[in-house]
Amino acid sequence: MVLEAGCGIGAQTVTLAQRSPDARFTSFDVSADSVAQAKRTTDAAGITNVHFQQADIFALPFAPESFDHIFVCFVLEHLSRPAEALTILNRLLRPGGTMTVIEGDHGSTYFHPDSSAARMAIQCLVELQRLAGGNALIGRQLYPLMVEAGLDLRLRPISPIPKPLMQVFEIFTERPRQTASSATRSSRAWEKSTSLDKISH
Ligand SMILES: C[S@@+](CC[C@H](N)C(=O)[O-])C[C@H]1O[C@@H](n2cnc3c(N)ncnc32)[C@H](O)[C@@H]1O
Repeated sequence: MVLEAGCGIGAQTVTLAQRSPDARFTSFDVSADSVAQAKRTTDAAGITNVHFQQADIFALPFAPESFDHIFVCFVLEHLSRPAEALTILNRLLRPGGTMTVIEGDHGSTYFHPDSSAARMAIQCLVELQRLAGGNALIGRQLYPLMVEAGLDLRLRPISPIPKPLMQVFEIFTERPRQTASSATRSSRAWEKSTSLDKISH
């Protein structure tokens, strides 16, 4: 059993349901119009493993621990209480269940060549979303939000990483880590030497 929160007009629902034909989906959205459109789209695609429902993420009618997986895509950025929403969803997961959360971060947009007009347009979008009670920069907060919501987060590769890619990964993670650790050591040594200097003077 999979719960899709904030399914909108079903843009992700079609792919999810088609790729996992043996899973049963419950997809909900606060907008009845979007739910109706999503149903029309999946019906037209011949999809039969999705049950649609109009519901508010903050007042869900589902029993605790009733889903194996929960899918959330581009929804938290529209909510004024995203951690609370994640906490509510987390309670619906059965023990050992998993959650996928995908959010954007409009502040990570770069332009080449740089354009002050384009940057202003992005800033305008960020501001409009803030005024609407959301957060267009939520992508960078996802990890702490999930921790705050009590999710048990574990990092693991989603598929075996090919060796050459693993070597590149190690260059970008292990070496900076070693450098950071030796930098810490040098700074400690420096602190020690300056404090000894102070004592000796
Ligand atoms: C950007 S759309 C994303 C739709 C879909 N997940 C996708 O990726 O295509 C955000 C959706 O969240 C829904 N939403 C916003 N607040 C909600 C709430 N409190 N409860 C349920 N859905 C909500 C909106 O109605 C909208 O359909």
